[in-house]
Amino acid sequence: MNPVKVGVLGLGTVGGGTVYILQHNAKEIARRAGRGIVVTHACAKEIKKNLPYDTDSIKITEQLDDVVTNPEIDIVVELIGGTTLAKEMVLKAIAHGKHVVTANKALIATCGNEIFAAAQEKGVMIAFEAAVAGGIPIIKAIREGLSANRIQWVAGIINGTSNFILTEMRDKGREFGDVLAEAQRLGYAEADPTFDIEGVDAAHKLTIIASIAFGIPLQFDKVYKEGITKITPEDVIYADTLGYRIKHLGITRWTDKGVELRVHPTFIPCRRLIANVDGVMNAVAVQADAVGQTLYYGAGAGATPTGSAVVADLIDVVRALTTDPENRVPHLAFQPDSLLSDLPILPIEEIETAYYLRMHALDKTGVLAQVATILSQHGISIEAVIQKEPTNKAASVPIVMLTHKVVEKHLNQAIAQIEALEGIEGQVARIRIETL
Ligand code: HSE
Repeated sequence: MNPVKVGVLGLGTVGGGTVYILQHNAKEIARRAGRGIVVTHACAKEIKKNLPYDTDSIKITEQLDDVVTNPEIDIVVELIGGTTLAKEMVLKAIAHGKHVVTANKALIATCGNEIFAAAQEKGVMIAFEAAVAGGIPIIKAIREGLSANRIQWVAGIINGTSNFILTEMRDKGREFGDVLAEAQRLGYAEADPTFDIEGVDAAHKLTIIASIAFGIPLQFDKVYKEGITKITPEDVIYADTLGYRIKHLGITRWTDKGVELRVHPTFIPCRRLIANVDGVMNAVAVQADAVGQTLYYGAGAGATPTGSAVVADLIDVVRALTTDPENRVPHLAFQPDSLLSDLPILPIEEIETAYYLRMHALDKTGVLAQVATILSQHGISIEAVIQKEPTNKAASVPIVMLTHKVVEKHLNQAIAQIEALEGIEGQVARIRIETL
């Protein structure tokens, strides 16, 4: 049988990794797919010298349309990134009857509902494994491997840059800005690194995870987003002292009141496996009713890890080319007409969790008692307290507390009252705790 012809938009890190894998593992891939898969066209501005893959067999063009509307091409791989040109090209490829594989999390998270509807209408497939957690096959695991289960929650370290920064701060006591600059140099960070450190990249990925876990539409706008920029070396040390690690987590949980959808720094007990996922690595834990908890670990970025996910998608698409569209695995795991559009996404004020609190108190009699009184008036019970001796009489002293579970709006009210106390300096820092 003739090989399936693929056109790639963008021959950067992931594009290069994809072409390399397709060429390097061509025989194994053909044995799995039942047909060869070859990249015949690619859109790229310039081709570097001494690449580890052959470009002579690929028609290189600078015009995206040469790939997207080309009647020879069966599958378009979109690796341009962003949501403007990429969206236009994906919709155009669909309109021309092409299947699409993409690694673009922003595109799927923000425009996926529209793109999937267009693809369904046209009877073509959109595959996006590489959009979440790089080389970890988490989409396939949740959508297919766990399809017997009612999923209860998913929690993941899904931004490698943030994890790298937090790991370096903890292990080597390094400064935030210095580690971020290194992450950029090493190519881990997004083109706009604020997407990494402010939680936007993780929110894109969590949006996709929540949809396939619970069968809800993609709702990026409703994700609570908090990055790692306010984490101080002090917090990192206190976490260690208290037996926790600080990780930037994406968490989505099914509750009786609605779905939680949130990304933020999180205290996790250090005995949990996921608390020990360090550096740029990613990990996703899934709690489901039949199987219990499963954990998926691996490289969340990089040329061949992400290329591995793109190629796996290509193989899936090739295997399903002759399948009736209605018999294919649905894009968002659940049949499109059964998505729960009315299920509420809980505002962050309604979530219930435990907290780490850090505040600076003047060394005066009764301040700790006042803080404890305010917390108890709001029904917030304290699990642990650390207050160190002041090093000099004029300075304020840090007080650190861990609370039991409380609804966030009640904690907010208590924090506002604590911050208004004369004996408390500045703001109260808070980090949510998850025992997972
Ligand atoms: N900037 C992303 C990260 C790359 O750090 O995880 C992979 O999506």
